[in-house]
Amino acid sequence: MGTEKILIIGSNGQIGLELAASLRQHVGYDNVICSDLRKLDFQEGPFELLDVLDKNRFLEIIKKHQITQVYLLAALLSATAEKNPKFAWDLNMNGLFHILDAAKEGLIKKVYWPSSIAVFGPSTPRANTPQYTVMEPNTIYGISKQAGERFCEYYHQKYGVDVRSIRYPGLIGWKSAPGGGTTDYAVHIYHEALKSKTYTSFLKAGTILPMMYMDDAIRATISLMEAPAELVKIRSSYNIAGMSFDPEEIAASIRKYIPEFTINYAPDYRQAIADSWPQSIDDSEAREHWGWKPEFDLDKMTQVMLENLKATSSQS
Ligand code: NAD
Ligand code: SER
Repeated sequence: MGTEKILIIGSNGQIGLELAASLRQHVGYDNVICSDLRKLDFQEGPFELLDVLDKNRFLEIIKKHQITQVYLLAALLSATAEKNPKFAWDLNMNGLFHILDAAKEGLIKKVYWPSSIAVFGPSTPRANTPQYTVMEPNTIYGISKQAGERFCEYYHQKYGVDVRSIRYPGLIGWKSAPGGGTTDYAVHIYHEALKSKTYTSFLKAGTILPMMYMDDAIRATISLMEAPAELVKIRSSYNIAGMSFDPEEIAASIRKYIPEFTINYAPDYRQAIADSWPQSIDDSEAREHWGWKPEFDLDKMTQVMLENLKATSSQS
C-alpha cells in the first residue's frame, strides 16, 4: 500500500477519526486526505471540505491529490435515517454512486464502502445469521445499505470496479462519539457508568445485538482492503462478528469494575429497529477468504473502554 493516496469521506465520524489515524500509520501521514462537511478544531493533517453529494468538488479533490483509494463513510445511520428517510436515501445512495462511477471511469483504483447488519430484517434468521439468507430490511437505513450492496456487486461484475465492503455490527470505541445509530447505547453506557454510575437504556433488557470493539473493526477494514483481489470473493459485503450481548450483559460486565453501577430502561423508537436485526452473525466466509478473526470479547472491551475513558476524562 506504500504508494497509495487515500481519501476518507466522512472522516470526522465515529469510524473516520479512528480509521484515519490507523491508515496514516499504515501508508504515511500525508498519504491520507481526510474530508467532511466541516473541519474540526483539533483536525491535523491533510483535510478538504467536501459534501459527497457535490460530485464536481469530489472529482476536483481526487484530481488535486491524485487519489487512488476512497473510503466512503458519509451516511445517515439507522436512527437518524428514520427521521429523514428521503434525505437518508439521497445521501446513502448518491454519495455511493459518485464514488463507484469515478472508479468505473478509472479515476480511482479501489473503494471501501461499509454496509451494516441493518441489511437483515425481521424475516431473517436471527441467530448466527448466515452470509446468504433472507434479507427484507424494514428500515430506510437497511434498505439503502442493501441496495448499496447490490450496486457494489453490480459495479464489480459489470465494470470491474475493485470495491470492498464489510457489514459492520454495532461499533464501540472510546476515541470518538457515535453518530446516530441504534447500537449507540453500548458506547453511551460506558461514559455514563464513569460519570454518574447509572444509565437509562433506550433498548430494553434482553435486546441482544451483534457488536464489535472499534480496534477489531479497523483491523478488519484495513485487512480486507489489503487482501489480494482474488481472496475477496464477495463483492456485496462480508458478514463479520465480534461479540453479542444485551444491555443486562454489558451492565454486568461494567459492574465487574464499578460494582455500584445500575441500569434502567426507557425504550423508544429505536427498540423496533433493534428488534428487526440479527442477534448474532456467522462470519465463516470472512474467516475463510481473508483470515478475519476478532480479538475482543465483552469483558476485554469493557476493561479497555473504562480504562481509557477514565484516563481521558482525568486529562480534560
Ligand atoms: P458517523 O455518523 O459517526 O460519521 C459520518 C460522518 O459523515 C460525519 O462526520 C458526518 O459529518 C459526515 N457526513 C455526513 N454527510 C456528509 C456529506 N454529505 N458529505 C461528507 N461527509 C458527510 O458514522 P460512522 O459511525 O462513522 O459510520 C460510517 C459508516 O459506517 C456509515 O456508512 C455507517 O452506515 C457505517 N456503519 C457504522 C456502524 C457503527 O456502529 N458506527 C455500523 C455499521 C455500519
Ligand atoms: N451501528 C449502526 C446503527 O446502529 C449499525 O449499522 O445504525
